[in-house]
Amino acid sequence: MGSAHLTSLLKITHPLLQGGMSWVSRFELAAAVSEAGGLGVIGAGGMEPEELRREIRSLRAQTTQTFGVNVPLLNVRPDGNAGIVEQLIDVVCEESVPVVVTGAGTPRRFTERLHGANALVLHVVPSVELAQKCEQAGVDVIIAESQEAGGHVSVKGLSSFSLIPQVVDAVDVPVVAAGGIADARGVAAALALGAAGVQVGTRFIATHECNAHPAFKQALLSASSESTAIYCRQAHASRALVTPAVKKLLEMESEGRTVDELIQFRGRGRAFEGCIEGNLDDGLLPSGSGAGLVQSTQTVAEVVAELTQGATRILGDLGKAISPPARGSGTDAK
Ligand SMILES: Cc1cc2nc3c(=O)[nH]c(=O)nc-3n(C[C@H](O)[C@H](O)[C@H](O)COP(=O)(O)O)c2cc1C
Repeated sequence: MGSAHLTSLLKITHPLLQGGMSWVSRFELAAAVSEAGGLGVIGAGGMEPEELRREIRSLRAQTTQTFGVNVPLLNVRPDGNAGIVEQLIDVVCEESVPVVVTGAGTPRRFTERLHGANALVLHVVPSVELAQKCEQAGVDVIIAESQEAGGHVSVKGLSSFSLIPQVVDAVDVPVVAAGGIADARGVAAALALGAAGVQVGTRFIATHECNAHPAFKQALLSASSESTAIYCRQAHASRALVTPAVKKLLEMESEGRTVDELIQFRGRGRAFEGCIEGNLDDGLLPSGSGAGLVQSTQTVAEVVAELTQGATRILGDLGKAISPPARGSGTDAK
């Protein structure tokens, strides 16, 4: 399934999705991405239902383009009490959100209901096995997210180079690649691996439209290839910039501290503290391993143009590079 199928399905110009990011993908960022021809996505993680409703309505006041809402299913409890997740799903159905991105949970639970509300369902997976389960559950588009991604990652997850082509081969629905894509080369590589499109998170944090604290944006600009790490490998593993809080968590892991102790230290508020309050000591700053590629804070329109036009150029040049003129047809004749 190629890019043209994905863009016509989602009614977008470029096969570029902005990853839903708890706390830092609010309506301003999502609206700007949709206006620029990509799919802007409001991250509902951490929001109260009525807050999400206001965000959706504010986005609609800024753009008539297609957009999405990301609802992490992490809070669905084993006893089936979906709690807040159920209420967020109610809101996206009531507000007729056209695209819903789910992840960190089973796709079976909500897909039918979302389809009933005329929403397209995209689900984030780290493996071939889960991608196949999503397809069986009727998911419309699979987002194959590799270990390079910012935020929650699967510890058993693969890197993009091996994950994307294997997921593409295993399912018939369009596959979007996510994880570590922060410039045009990453976009071109993902398409070359067979993805129909890309989902980019971290790169969009360093934009004027993103509500992240300036200290978080600056930390991304200062980041190198060594600046992120995966922590809490036994309990909802995540990739983030290595702040003192992440160092402490890594230390606790190497000391063999229990999962409960790790969860207790991580708490629920540290990502908010880092991303929104700019507390780089106690806070967490989820970020993909491509952070070292983020060089400047730009407008969303500039980032979208750079990623899409750059990838088009690279793929064109590569086509010419691997197809030299036939022998005897020109300068290489002896
Ligand atoms: C700050 C931050 C918060 C995120 N929050 C969520 C989330 O709430 N739900 C989700 O499905 N993915 C979340 N992600 C993952 C993104 O949607 C996206 O897949 C990921 O950022 C892609 O990798 P990249 O950051 O290397 O581009 C988050 C990522 C970041 C960086």
